[in-house]
Amino acid sequence: MIAIRADLLDFTAAPRWGDTGDGGHSGHGGEPAVRWRPDHWLLVDAQGRIAGVQPGAVEPGPAYARDDQRGRLLLPGFIDTHVHSPQIEVIASFGTELLDWLQRYTFPAERAWADPAVAAAGSARFLDALLAHGTTAAVVFPTVHKGSAEALFQAAQQRGMRLVAGKVLMDRHAPDGLRDDDLAQAERDCVDLIERWHGRGRNAYAVTVRFAPTSTPAQLAMAGALCRADASLYLQTHVAENRVEVQWVQRLFPAARSYLDVYAQAGLLHPRSVLAHGIWLDEADLGTLRDSGAQIAFCPSSNLFLGSGLMDWPQRQAAGVAVSVGSDVGGGTSLSLPRTLADGYKVQALAGHRLTAWTALHAATRGAADALKLAHEIGSLDAGCLADVCLWDWSRDAVGERRLAVAQDLHEKLFAWMTLADAGHLAATYVAGRRLYTRADR
Ligand code: GUN
Ligand code: ZN
Repeated sequence: MIAIRADLLDFTAAPRWGDTGDGGHSGHGGEPAVRWRPDHWLLVDAQGRIAGVQPGAVEPGPAYARDDQRGRLLLPGFIDTHVHSPQIEVIASFGTELLDWLQRYTFPAERAWADPAVAAAGSARFLDALLAHGTTAAVVFPTVHKGSAEALFQAAQQRGMRLVAGKVLMDRHAPDGLRDDDLAQAERDCVDLIERWHGRGRNAYAVTVRFAPTSTPAQLAMAGALCRADASLYLQTHVAENRVEVQWVQRLFPAARSYLDVYAQAGLLHPRSVLAHGIWLDEADLGTLRDSGAQIAFCPSSNLFLGSGLMDWPQRQAAGVAVSVGSDVGGGTSLSLPRTLADGYKVQALAGHRLTAWTALHAATRGAADALKLAHEIGSLDAGCLADVCLWDWSRDAVGERRLAVAQDLHEKLFAWMTLADAGHLAATYVAGRRLYTRADR
């Protein structure tokens, strides 16, 4: 049993859009949504669950090993709802938009993961990198190869991390070595992986359609049948990221009303669906999304880097569509969710909106957990949740130190922290109460 002393911040509900008050009041009844407990102990039981919180002046009992991190910020571990494990190797690749980027950089890198040794080493490297950025849970695309999902689940199990993933489905418009051989083999691979990994440890399976252009209608139908057969499965895919991509989908699926409608027709939209990007959607699409309960993973770093477009967050929120946050590495340029949220602020600013630190940090923690139906386990410092937490320095240099020193209220302080923090601010990451990452200089 351990007790960690720090400044604790988490959320009890979704803050209202635009609210920068200390409480970041929720839309429901105006209750405070932000839970700020400066200088408190977080108590963790022997099973790695949060047992409670108490003021710093109240010493924990002798059964607790004390980890005194006074003066640091402790948050729930970040939840990255869209990221690609093999794409660390193509992060920061020059000069292309989505479709050329896939052909020139991404597909060649993913081909190497056919080798189980490459997939095993790469999965370990990837998950350790998430932890080194304060991310303790993720919704992940590996590659089309069954062994890439196997390796990822195994590496997550070894670390005790919460992971949602599945083998990528692709049976057309992809190079040799990156396509499913046939429908039956792809389905067998999925069924096999579901039996082995769905609900084992902290792993869950996501039926993983890369995007509409790389699956035949038959493969999309197979994916829909898997979802219908087991409502506890997740679904992940990309939608409406890039305008040329959207036009291509229109040509490939002339009978569909829209890109999103291709997925709706195939039975891929449900409360456990995570759709990356969702930039180029119309009002009817937003209604479809709301009715299905599917969420959008907003990936601002990727959207800026690949020049994809500006997703309108408040429009989605007003339509009743849940929005979480994805790094989308390697389209995105950092695994850090604070970096991603800082980009999110800028994307919203370009679209004429103001993203508060409350809405941003909530979406990357409790909001994502809620949308994934995992709020009983992750996303907050509620008693009973697993102690997946990340511990941060408030500042690392003279600029950050001065900026935080002059901040007038809690939102100003957290907004400045979120905008300036990078992986170097992270002091430690804990998964189920075990410290799995410690910054080297500590
Ligand atoms: N659309 C289909 N595949 C991908 C991918 O790997 N990254 C991004 N950003 N978009 C995609
Ligand atoms: Zn992606």
